[in-house]
Amino acid sequence: MLVSAKEMLTKAREGKYAVGQFNINNLEWTKTILLTAQELNSPVILGVSEGAGKYMGGFKTVSGMVNGLLEGLNITVPVALHLDHGTYEGCYKCIEAGFSSIMFDGSHYPIAENVEKTTELVKICNEKGLSLEAEVGAIGGEEDGVIGMGECADPNECKSIADLGVTMLAAGIGNIHGKYPANWPGLSFETLAAVKEKVGDMPLVLHGGTGIPEDMIKKAISLGVAKINVNTECQLAFAAAVRKYIEAGKDLEGKGFDPRKLLAPGCDAIKETVREKIELFGSANKA
Ligand code: G3H
Ligand code: ZN
Repeated sequence: MLVSAKEMLTKAREGKYAVGQFNINNLEWTKTILLTAQELNSPVILGVSEGAGKYMGGFKTVSGMVNGLLEGLNITVPVALHLDHGTYEGCYKCIEAGFSSIMFDGSHYPIAENVEKTTELVKICNEKGLSLEAEVGAIGGEEDGVIGMGECADPNECKSIADLGVTMLAAGIGNIHGKYPANWPGLSFETLAAVKEKVGDMPLVLHGGTGIPEDMIKKAISLGVAKINVNTECQLAFAAAVRKYIEAGKDLEGKGFDPRKLLAPGCDAIKETVREKIELFGSANKA
């Protein structure tokens, strides 16, 4: 059964570790992430962008697939199905489709409008027992057509959103979606500490988890980050492994063209990436 992310993130913040959110694109991705979390006895959050939801045939298809896999694979660790960077309309669609967690990305609205829309969503999520993530200060880079500016959040704005009763808060601290450029100055721990000072115990979310150096991840967790989103790194690992298989001509040998064989190296690569992240974030054996 899907669960809200509230309890797993409260435990993570208190225990000084973070739960990974891994974005899904299809059955193979979802199955691999679930099996890896189960093997490591770790809670996990499956992230679905609106683009990925559309690709998979709509949010209801996604929720049906994930619920089917939880039962079919006998997954017993806590799993949240979470809308990633949701629009206001997308949030309603996912609530209706049976997601257990949503993110309303109101960072591009003027703060008053972000507050108004978030307030409404807090009420609905509380009624339905869902967790809600809000964002302040756009995350840099590009993800699935969503382009952020990479700003550092204003800690006072973070407090005004946190005080509305959201479950978790994504604050921009110089993090970027996708690969980090060579001249990236790193995370702004000054901003993160100032945000934490204002929002107290609220679990904080670090987007753009791909390629952040290990020491920065650990420091961010020590400053209140309880959820870390990873997407591009799984995609890169998957693509490289499948390319290697095809370039070696394996798809031409025997039944190597069978999609179950062709995609298997990609799934193994995702598994390794997810395993590394779960171990780095410290959520193994925390289910
Ligand atoms: O919302 C999802 C992410 O923030 C993932 O970022 O693609 O840089 O790992 P990433
Ligand atoms: Zn993100």
